[in-house]
Amino acid sequence: MELYIDSANINEIREVAALGIISGVTTNPSLLAREDPKVNVRQRILEIHTLVGGHLSVEVISTDADGMLREADEILAWFPEATIKIPMIAEGLKAVSKLSEQGVDTNVTLIFSPAQALAANNAGATYVSVFVGRLDDISFDGMQVIRDVREIWDIQGLNSLILAASIRHPMHIVECAKAGADIATCPYKPIMQSLKHPLTDSGLASFLADHQKMQAEIKKSSLSTN
Ligand code: E4P
Repeated sequence: MELYIDSANINEIREVAALGIISGVTTNPSLLAREDPKVNVRQRILEIHTLVGGHLSVEVISTDADGMLREADEILAWFPEATIKIPMIAEGLKAVSKLSEQGVDTNVTLIFSPAQALAANNAGATYVSVFVGRLDDISFDGMQVIRDVREIWDIQGLNSLILAASIRHPMHIVECAKAGADIATCPYKPIMQSLKHPLTDSGLASFLADHQKMQAEIKKSSLSTN
């Protein structure tokens, strides 16, 4: 399962990209606004694109297909390999099917059910973004939707990539991998939390302490022989 970072924060993206563990970035209007309500979106997106050369989803804000297609043209003029992120509404599907005919990558976002995922796949979506955490937040089993979508995809031989979104903690990442998501897009915090284990820290501390002890012994014995 590939990992993307779900962020519009340059420092977070730079730090995680340097680890070599992410292959893409997803953004949305809320993430951009959270960074700076007056952010120049084009500039920020191009900055992110320079940092992480792989997948970059940029979301449209129109709610009609013509407006979405106009925005897609604008974004593609910023950089032609952009993935256009489009909400899972009827007008969004119209735009997705047009863009798919043109060979443009699309990410259908705000998917909360297998039926929505199936519709997005059939419209030609490159990615279907299933929001796990937001389902958990309202006492639905978000991970079950990932499992159901995977099962349907395998039975039917469907090919939109299953992108698990709205990830809240490291166990979501593990469960998404077990459930067969192709990609999980995660905020900075769960990515960094997923690297940690207390036994790694205590193990490293004791390796370093033993090495220091050994160095001290070597120094002591070389002093006593001189
Ligand atoms: C996905 O692409 C979305 O940007 C994101 O995962 C939403 O997550 P949230 O529920 O934490 O806002």
